[in-house]
Amino acid sequence: MGYINWTDNLDLGLPVMDADHRRMADLLNQFLQSLDGREDRAVPILESLIGAAQAHFQREEALLDQLHYPELPYHRLEHQRLIAQINHFKNRFASGEMPQGNSLAIADWLRRWLFDHILNEDRAYRPFVMRLA
Ligand SMILES: [Fe+2]
Ligand SMILES: [Fe+2]
Repeated sequence: MGYINWTDNLDLGLPVMDADHRRMADLLNQFLQSLDGREDRAVPILESLIGAAQAHFQREEALLDQLHYPELPYHRLEHQRLIAQINHFKNRFASGEMPQGNSLAIADWLRRWLFDHILNEDRAYRPFVMRLA
């Protein structure tokens, strides 16, 4: 799998959210790069990714709460699901029980999750934000 490329269709046109999403994609890229001989960096990068995801989800959920966004409960659940997955993954990686092939597969899964989530769940709240602006 090649490194992650950001494409313009992933931008929501909401600068704070877009910056958060790009930061998460950037950390995923850093994680992939670390698998190429710098595995010692992998766990700290995953920790940064968890921190960035938590900060972003908090910001996004606060915004959706303010907008009385009807899909917020489901959206929040999706966020929680991702944090749990990365945590689980990080713990397995930290304990050294993760073969490299699995790491690549999981990085691919994370990339797909992030992009699908932005293009579907996140894009769906955009009109609500725009109405408020
Ligand atoms: Fe989201
Ligand atoms: Fe988001």
